Amino acid sequence: MHVAIIMDGNGRWAERRGLPRQAGHRAGAKSVRRVVESAAKLGVDCLTLYAFSSDNWSRPRDEVSHLMQLFKRYLQSEISRCAENGIRLNIIGRRDRLHPKIVAIIERAEQLTAGGERMLLRLAVDYSARHVVATSAHRAGLECGCLANGNERACFEAMLAAQMHAAVAAGDVDLLIRSGGERRLSDFLLWECAYAELVFVDTLWPDFGERDLVAALEDFGRRERRFGGRPGHDRSVAAPLPQ
Ligand code: FPP
Repeated sequence: MHVAIIMDGNGRWAERRGLPRQAGHRAGAKSVRRVVESAAKLGVDCLTLYAFSSDNWSRPRDEVSHLMQLFKRYLQSEISRCAENGIRLNIIGRRDRLHPKIVAIIERAEQLTAGGERMLLRLAVDYSARHVVATSAHRAGLECGCLANGNERACFEAMLAAQMHAAVAAGDVDLLIRSGGERRLSDFLLWECAYAELVFVDTLWPDFGERDLVAALEDFGRRERRFGGRPGHDRSVAAPLPQ
């Protein structure tokens, strides 16, 4: 089961308390720690969290550097805990615009947790689904010449994984959760969410906890997933009719 979360509402959480936005992001980072633990405990196989979108670079400089610091500190403090708890870390997104020190910490975190089999934790940083899709299509077409050999999808998906530094195949998203009351995808995992079930919650991210995750999983459990077929349809038997 692959769960992806758009963690929204840190700024509003802080504003409501008369605190600077930074305080909201710090509280959001604590929420990340709690939710990662809960997800592993609840048997989620892969958790992908949207930590910093490529469009987030347009925020004020001090907010961007605060978010980068938080992310760096999170990795430094969680590496050993993840390794001990069987959690494999993978940072997806662009790396060419990150500070070299952060890239070094990412590589270390990925190496040290590579043996983790309990849950794959993917943090999306400088991530834009459109950028990943566009560059992957370009590379698959130009570099491999494999967009017209009947293998398009496998080839494209391999490119997609390479472009976003997805070290391990995570497959499609089953459940996408967005906190903070907004109802949009914000350029997150557009390809992988083709058949994702969507759950939007009003809870602001720093207040999001195990109870919200359990409620979202229960909601997911009540959904009937048809993948374009009819009710009760077995996805595996679908095949196009011969022309
Ligand atoms: C959206 O809140 C959240 C972000 C832009 C970043 C998410 C970052 C964290 C949860 C903390 C650090 C992450 C890690 C992995 C340690 P917003 O600022 O857009 O909130 P608003 O919509 O209320 O203004």
